[in-house]
Amino acid sequence: MRLLKHLFDSNLAWAEQIKQRDPNFFSKLSRQQRPEYLWIGCSDSRVPANEIVNLMPGEIFVHRNIANVVVHTDLNCLSVIQYAVDVLKVKHIIVCGHYGCGGIRAALEGEAHGLIDNWLGHIKDVYRYHQTMIDAIADEQERLNLLCELNVIEQVVNVAQTTVAQNAWRNGQELSVHGWIYSIDDGILKDLDICIAGLDQIPPSCVIKARSYRQEKE
Ligand code: CO
Repeated sequence: MRLLKHLFDSNLAWAEQIKQRDPNFFSKLSRQQRPEYLWIGCSDSRVPANEIVNLMPGEIFVHRNIANVVVHTDLNCLSVIQYAVDVLKVKHIIVCGHYGCGGIRAALEGEAHGLIDNWLGHIKDVYRYHQTMIDAIADEQERLNLLCELNVIEQVVNVAQTTVAQNAWRNGQELSVHGWIYSIDDGILKDLDICIAGLDQIPPSCVIKARSYRQEKE
């Protein structure tokens, strides 16, 4: 099938529905976007950012990849974070994982899935950091759930380690990095009670010293 007509029909109906509520919605939105939030979530089709928090187009900037990983050298994710923080001036970065994540399960089980196994190496790292605590849990589902949560926390710290977040804090910009987890079973979000909002809230070893920035400017 060359043309996915049903999706275009669905699109027309959706646009019409929005225009009925607010005739100027799209013309206003086309002039600018000013989202307050950057969402870093899993690619899983059951975890769509806008729908979960019931936000309209224009209200949330989104980056998704398998198992919501923030890799220190991932130019794609770093570019999204940089644009969101420096240009759009988002106030909040939300790393949102989800229970029952297939990526996390694959990393834990260790079975071969192809190229993706390299990406999942980052999750295996998280497992290794916390292996004693995870292996002490008898129930397999609970082990998986815990790794889903620990992965979110790890990625929140990774966001806080970026030069982008650290420069923003150093310049006095308001920026909080949050860790959330979503339950596919009931559609409910949970705050994992990790929020980093300044350089004083991360381990000193993760702070890139200000001196290097001065040198950069010289
Ligand atoms: Co997932």
